[in-house]
Amino acid sequence: MENNLVLEMPSPTVKNGEWSMQIRNLKIAFDTPKGEFVAVKNINLNVKQGEIISIIGHSGCGKSTILNAIGGFIKPAKGEVLLSGQPVKGPGPDRGFVFQHYSLLPWFSVYKNIFEAVDSVLKKVSKEEKKQIVERYINAVGLASHKHKLPSEISGGMKQRVAIARAFAINPKYLLLDEPFGALDALTKSSMHIELLKLWNMDNRSKTILMVTHDIEEAIFLSDRIVVMTNGPAATIREIVEVNLQRPRNKKEIAHEPEYIRTRDHLISLLMDKVSILDYKK
Ligand SMILES: Nc1ncnc2c1ncn2[C@@H]1O[C@H](COP(=O)(O)OP(=O)(O)O)[C@@H](O)[C@H]1O
Ligand SMILES: [Mg+2]
Repeated sequence: MENNLVLEMPSPTVKNGEWSMQIRNLKIAFDTPKGEFVAVKNINLNVKQGEIISIIGHSGCGKSTILNAIGGFIKPAKGEVLLSGQPVKGPGPDRGFVFQHYSLLPWFSVYKNIFEAVDSVLKKVSKEEKKQIVERYINAVGLASHKHKLPSEISGGMKQRVAIARAFAINPKYLLLDEPFGALDALTKSSMHIELLKLWNMDNRSKTILMVTHDIEEAIFLSDRIVVMTNGPAATIREIVEVNLQRPRNKKEIAHEPEYIRTRDHLISLLMDKVSILDYKK
């Protein structure tokens, strides 16, 4: 099948020694009525073009805060985020965001939700080409027969497909996904993982993806590396875990591989060692 052929392509590596994304000594603090609140500090991470990185950690450890700093929505108290060597000064069309709650415009159809985004970002592209781009991504996520429906007329999984197709359609270099599948049931979530990888393959695995999740199995299946956070406040990176599983990955098969089991057990121990079974006996 055509998809399988595409799935065999090698992942791009660092070109000319340049990292796609560099987070250097990042500290983010908020002014609160009780004074300064340090959400994260000492965050250091280098990412290659085309890598898929997950950030995993307990609620409130600053995962969204880090993504927002990369998105240019929050200014660091210290340190910086470099994208292709340039410091982030604010939001830009080189970064596409997908949030847990779809963020579709309710009065626009599936088609129009994607078209409006493409129209506002890809300024130099002709109207005809824009239409082709929108059709291409709607087809890629299997929504051709639903394209004239409103968000209220489609399921949660479909809405998230639209949000992801829209993020890819504006052709950003970076995709920032904040718990994109968190609101979906397990089966829908599983098919969304495949959709996401299909879109990434369609663009020759050139897009760099940073995804926040608290789902260990999702993180292993999708990622090249997993950034495990310590608990907040003043959270930082506890460890960066490599996922040494070849792509394409088959969810059913990898679950039995020793490398998968080792990685999963290691992640569980990194995330759970503060929680004792005795806590449940109280
Ligand atoms: N605008 C803000 N003002 C004050 N505190 C904030 C703000 N945004 C986030 N925080 C705090 O920073 C910490 C990290 O938040 P967040 O990044 O949303 O965590 P996560 O996404 O890992 O659940 C939390 O303690 C949260 O309450
Ligand atoms: Mg969050």
